[in-house]
Amino acid sequence: MKRDFIDLWNLDPEEAWYVVKRTKKVKEGEEELDKVLQGKTVALIFTKPSTRTRVSFEVGISELGGNAIFLQESHLQLSRGEDVRDTARTLSRYVSGAIVRNHSHTWLEEFAKWASIPVINALTDKSHPCQVLSDVFTLYERFGEEVKEIKIAYVGDGNNVCNTWLVGAGLFGLNLFVATPEDYGPDSYYLQAGLDLSNFTGGNVYLTTNPVEAVRDAHVVYTDVWVSMGDNEREEKLEALKPFQVNEQLLSHARDDVLVMHCLPAKKGQEITEDVFERFADFIFTQAENRLHAQKTLLDFLFTPR
Ligand code: CP
Ligand code: NVA
Repeated sequence: MKRDFIDLWNLDPEEAWYVVKRTKKVKEGEEELDKVLQGKTVALIFTKPSTRTRVSFEVGISELGGNAIFLQESHLQLSRGEDVRDTARTLSRYVSGAIVRNHSHTWLEEFAKWASIPVINALTDKSHPCQVLSDVFTLYERFGEEVKEIKIAYVGDGNNVCNTWLVGAGLFGLNLFVATPEDYGPDSYYLQAGLDLSNFTGGNVYLTTNPVEAVRDAHVVYTDVWVSMGDNEREEKLEALKPFQVNEQLLSHARDDVLVMHCLPAKKGQEITEDVFERFADFIFTQAENRLHAQKTLLDFLFTPR
């Protein structure tokens, strides 16, 4: 039975922790991953730009012995209206897996339904599971088992990354405070999933419209762009988000040893000030580096027959 990774809940909490903990061992050289993709080709189908996701997956696939082919939607017959079902069924005959970055989450679900190969979500309008899986690894790497005790604040737009963090907090049993403007909150489906999972794992998920409440005494403050790919830059939205900027003033409410995370790309001067970004740049680029380590372990997990 193939394993897809469309949303974080495609892993159960035990599997998700297994991937995160194994990533640490692999990164530290304590364990080595098998060449699980030897002789296999994996397609990357992207309709949106990408620096980190594309490159980290291509490098990871190559390090696991496989071959990656990058397919831009505009070069596929999809751009001329070929059915998602037929595209999925055709590609399944050529390649062993598909990593897809597409705007519509429902389109990706349809693609995965018709594909007979593992399908990985490389970002949709609703979720970005590879990002949050890797971010939880970054926190585990820093805090160890204490990661379940710390306060994590997500501040900004209630977008795909925010949705996924809600699920991530539930899945891994973390304490997450999300602060967004009232009109730009996360998707209620993802919020509910985060709450439901928290009931099993002991996680806590709080929503507020007050950024100071979220950041107060936080160990980690996380943010993402205010204008996601495919969104229009609207003045009223930027105005509503202004109090949610991660700047020194907002951070003064957090712990003195607070860490700031950003999934990147950053729009400095909007969701984060240049000063704050540079103060935490080393951690933020470790966060970016960890995409490679976490995704390699994820690929190993999804492609190892069991
Ligand atoms: N964080 C992230 O997914 O970056 P890219 O858009 O560059 O892939
Ligand atoms: N929310 C951002 C994330 C980029 C990695 C976007 O969708 O553009």
